[in-house]
Amino acid sequence: MDNKIYSAFESNNEITLYEGDCFNLVKSLPDESVDLIITSPPYAMGKAYERAEDDLDDFAIKHQQLFPELYRILKVGGSVCWQVGYHVKNGVVTPLDFVINQIISELNHSIYANKLILRNRIIWTFGHGLNAKERFSGRHETVLWYTKGSDYEFNLDEVRIPQKYPGKKYYKGEKKGEYSGNPLGKNPSDVWSIPNVKANHIEKTEHPCQFPVVVPQRLIKALTYPGDVVLDPFNGSGSTAVAALLEHRKYIGAEINKKYCDITKSRIQDVLDGVATYRIDKPVYEPKGNSSVTKKPNHFEW
Ligand SMILES: C[S@@+](CC[C@H](N)C(=O)[O-])C[C@H]1O[C@@H](n2cnc3c(N)ncnc32)[C@H](O)[C@@H]1O
Repeated sequence: MDNKIYSAFESNNEITLYEGDCFNLVKSLPDESVDLIITSPPYAMGKAYERAEDDLDDFAIKHQQLFPELYRILKVGGSVCWQVGYHVKNGVVTPLDFVINQIISELNHSIYANKLILRNRIIWTFGHGLNAKERFSGRHETVLWYTKGSDYEFNLDEVRIPQKYPGKKYYKGEKKGEYSGNPLGKNPSDVWSIPNVKANHIEKTEHPCQFPVVVPQRLIKALTYPGDVVLDPFNGSGSTAVAALLEHRKYIGAEINKKYCDITKSRIQDVLDGVATYRIDKPVYEPKGNSSVTKKPNHFEW
C-alpha cells in the first residue's frame, strides 16, 4: 500500500485528504468513481465548525447543491450513508433525515435509471448526551442508507453479531434437532446501540462531534469490498478514514478546517503504523450461561 496522504485526487491514490470545501473536491472526482459515501454533515446548530448564521434553509440548500454531484461520482450499485441527528431551535425539533429524504426524493424526479433507493433508516442509539428539561432527552441519531439502483452489494456475513440463544434448536418439522441460528451470528438489525464519543472515549480528539469508528466500519464492511473507494465529504476528525483504512479500502475525504485535517493525518498515520486506538465492534449482547439454549455451540464462528 502507498502510505502517502495526497492532498488532491488522482485515480491511483490510496488516501486523499483535501483541505478545503468538499464541493471543490467532489467536482474534481470523475463520474462513477466512488463505491460508498459516508458522512455526517454540519447540522446548522452553531457548532464551532459552522457559520453562526446558518439555519435549516442553509442546510437544505447546501444538500440540494451537493447531492447531484455525489450522485454523479457514485458507481451504479454503490451506496450513500448519511448520518444525521436533529436540528433544534427555540424548542422546535426537526429530524434532519426528513429533510435529506425529501431532497433525495426531489433529485430522483430528475433521474431516469438507477435512482437513489432507501434501504434502511438505521437508529444509532447511545447512553449519554444533554439532559433535556422540557422534552425527553435525545439519545439517538439516524443513518439513511441509499443505493444507486436496485443491484447492490450487502455483505451481511461481514457484520453479523452473536445470537441471544445460539444453542436453540428446531423442536419440530423437517429440521428438528438442528440449530435454528446462523453459525456466523445474526443480522445486527437497524437499531445500533453504540456508545457515542464523549470525553473518556478512547477515540476522543479535539473535534466536538465525532462519530465512533464502528459506525462507518460496519457500513464499510457490509457495503464494500477491500480495495473499494470510500468518500467522506465532511471528514471532521477522520473517523471514516480510520474505518476505511482498517478495512483496507481506499479513502477520499474533504475537511475545511485545518486543525481537523491535522488530527485526521495523525489518526491515519496511527492506522498505517498499526497503533490506532479505536473501540472494536462489541456485540450488543454476549451470550452467557450454560443452559442448552444460551451456550454457544463449538462450530459457531464468532
Ligand atoms: C459533524 S462534523 C463530522 C465529524 C466526523 N464524522 C468525525 O467523526 O469526526 C462535520 C465536519 O464538516 C466540516 N465542514 C463543514 N463544511 C464543510 C465543507 N463545505 N467542506 C468540507 N468540510 C466541511 C466541519 O469542519 C466539520 O469538521
